[in-house]
Amino acid sequence: MNASSHPFEEPGQTSRTLDPCILVIFGATGDLTAKKLMPAIYNLKREGQLPTNFVCCGFARREKTHEEFREEMKKGVNTHSRVKPIDENIWSNFQNQIFYHQSGFDEDEGYDRFAKYLNELDAQFGTKGNRIYYLSTQPSYFTKIIEKLKQHKLLYDHEDPSGKWSRVIIEKPFGHDYNSALALQKDLTKHLSEPQLYRIDHYLGKETVQNLLVFRFANSIFENLWNHRYIDHVQFTVAEDIGIGTRGNFYEEQGLLRDIMQNHMMQLLSLIAMEPPVNLSAGAVHDEKVKVLEAVRPYKGEDFDKFAIRGQYAKGYVGGEEAKGYREEDNVAKDSNVETYAAVKLYIDNWRWDGVPFYLRGAKRLPKRATEIAITFKTPPGILFKENGEQHESNVLAIRIQPNEGIALKINCKVPGPSSPIQPVKMDFRYGAFFGLTPPDAYERLICDCIAGDSTLFARQDEVFHSWKFFTPILEHWANTKPKDFPNYPCGSWGPQSAEEMIARDGRKWRLI
Ligand code: BG6
Repeated sequence: MNASSHPFEEPGQTSRTLDPCILVIFGATGDLTAKKLMPAIYNLKREGQLPTNFVCCGFARREKTHEEFREEMKKGVNTHSRVKPIDENIWSNFQNQIFYHQSGFDEDEGYDRFAKYLNELDAQFGTKGNRIYYLSTQPSYFTKIIEKLKQHKLLYDHEDPSGKWSRVIIEKPFGHDYNSALALQKDLTKHLSEPQLYRIDHYLGKETVQNLLVFRFANSIFENLWNHRYIDHVQFTVAEDIGIGTRGNFYEEQGLLRDIMQNHMMQLLSLIAMEPPVNLSAGAVHDEKVKVLEAVRPYKGEDFDKFAIRGQYAKGYVGGEEAKGYREEDNVAKDSNVETYAAVKLYIDNWRWDGVPFYLRGAKRLPKRATEIAITFKTPPGILFKENGEQHESNVLAIRIQPNEGIALKINCKVPGPSSPIQPVKMDFRYGAFFGLTPPDAYERLICDCIAGDSTLFARQDEVFHSWKFFTPILEHWANTKPKDFPNYPCGSWGPQSAEEMIARDGRKWRLI
């Protein structure tokens, strides 16, 4: 894709402009910068997708020279970039646009120095006062940083008469439940307006996730079938083989539901279930996504135990290697009840999805890494083709988000020969094989969109709130009732028995992936 085109633009449609700007990364010495942000920025540079007048400046508490910061960033790019090894020519030029500023996040004197410094960089690089502040810090600093930026005149009003702009990117978690999300929004919008806020959900930056809208609305064959008359049920799986690694403290506060399901999986759900937007503007797309989230039926009474299953991994084997149980991980309580597996069944109460169950499961330490959406169609009337009284398998459309990105359709087919047994076969489209490219990393897309002022692929506040509205009662129920069987699935298995039972009660099975 070319530097300035939008994923959903028709070829030849007007392209967007990328204004000169300075990208400031707060908390730049943390993992995210070295692993994701700097490799993404480097790849944007490599592919000519950054504005010519561009500067990246780290802001963090540790003492460090520009050179030390650049060296660390280079190491990060060398290790984590999707294209390796680093191109020395590109890097040696580009590193001159990378700087570091040391300051505490609440240190007035640090912000004063910073304001002056940014002005000098503007003069040197022609970045025209435009700013992106990427808050890659603990969420507890978000409000303070925004307050200080405003106080030190580093944040402008939205549509400032000077023509300069300032945008803020925040990383999840956006609150830890409904009320805290509201409170965070209230604090942030004291100094910022919603169009200046870019909430990153990196799933939305994945090529395959962006393709969901194209797949649904640029093809006519499936859209007619995309409703309760033809679809039996939909399954969403986000399986990871990794455990929580060094993130024990974080995970003890989050758990799987907050970490993956409330955000990433609900974003996938809203894209799969939304109505066609009136156009492809950010507002129109968000409006339709919100309607889906708003229509998710809240749980009542016994639903909590019947439809929301939690699990925690015990010691086991993943990929032939022994793996510790969650409670044995560093910084995890020996009697922790935090979930590393969640499976949820929900309904979307609108015309299109009336009565169609949506099953979501996400987990750490399953046998493999796989993110997939599977749409199972209803079986045809069993009048003509039945074998031994058995109905044939349903058609399944499986959208593989990662890895082996692609789309597969399972259809029933006659086996060649005089007898007529029927066998399910798969029509399989693979991105990698077809396009022969490594898809860009989600952060590349999202950083570039923020520079362009396009918030389509970011989460809007009401999406976040509606999702929390559904999940908060489940989280409260879990907090108030101790799980009886934790840990309840060994590493390397597909999760607890209770999740199998939940779906089996409906006469269905989790897909074998
Ligand atoms: C992050 C979660 O948001 O997403 C992690 O905090 C998880 O726990 C990661 O591993 C998964 O992202 P991806 O892109 O690897 O599917």
